[in-house]
Amino acid sequence: MKERIAKLKKAKNAIILAHYYVPDEVQQLADYVGDSFYLAKTAEQSTADILVFCGVSFMGESAKILSPHKKVLMPDTSADCPMAHMADPEMIERMRRKYEDLAVVCYINSTADLKCRSDVCVTSSNAVKIVRALPNKNIFFIPDRNLGSYVAEQLPEKNILLNEGCCPVHAEISAGQVRREKERHPDAPVLSHPECDPQVLALSDYAASTAGIIGYVKRSEKREFILCTEQGILFELRSENPDKRFFFPDPCPCCSDMKKNTPEGILSALENEDGEVKLSEDICRRALRPLRRMLELAD
Ligand code: 13P
Ligand code: SF4
Repeated sequence: MKERIAKLKKAKNAIILAHYYVPDEVQQLADYVGDSFYLAKTAEQSTADILVFCGVSFMGESAKILSPHKKVLMPDTSADCPMAHMADPEMIERMRRKYEDLAVVCYINSTADLKCRSDVCVTSSNAVKIVRALPNKNIFFIPDRNLGSYVAEQLPEKNILLNEGCCPVHAEISAGQVRREKERHPDAPVLSHPECDPQVLALSDYAASTAGIIGYVKRSEKREFILCTEQGILFELRSENPDKRFFFPDPCPCCSDMKKNTPEGILSALENEDGEVKLSEDICRRALRPLRRMLELAD
């Protein structure tokens, strides 16, 4: 299968992009593996004609919006992030009417329609930097209440209005589970994704995007780490740090949508060019503005 995929990639000028949460065998096949910010930038800068995007819908959509002339294929089009739908367009309009200077800040984990209604996109790796750079005091942060409250804590000068969305995988991690792991591994720092509950973040030594957590482990002299994020991150961590040990809260967090990406799905996408991300020209044009603004402000 590996050879067939390599041949098809060459013949069709295609590349494979994968998020850290997809299964190990998919990460192994990918040309680029990263967090959502890295993948969005890489998709935009690539000269490939076809992008096979192994992640969830909002990632494929963001790649399509940033590069409308490329064909973006997803190994399983039903792989979707539930949080991407957890904001209400009418609520956004109500907030805009209530606060004159409002900036609607949209986590990239959102549908294209929500992006169209927003002023700027962010990912977990640049949210604090971007919100700080905005001239607006009043910020409506959608859809993730946990990332929103993490940003609010870092930026007390802003009035951050939270929305009721969350990641079902990260929000499931409880402070009790983290305390239990800390008791078992007292010397291990707790590294958490900011999609976790504020009580979990309060127990953490470091909060960052998946790439940020990987960077921390690489730089650290510690030998053991407690990870409050999705288990797929382990593949990169183990290959880069064979002498370090990793522990997760119990039960180990797993994103079932990310796991829908398979080598068979990649092969089928390349062979049949199925699973194409299709968005109207109008949606692409309107959603491009907040995504481009993110790329400018994140630099
Ligand atoms: P990253 O931006 O850290 O890759 O996070 C994406 C995501 O879906 C986390 O649940
Ligand atoms: Fe969405 Fe959570 Fe899965 Fe990330 S881990 S894709 S935020 S459901």
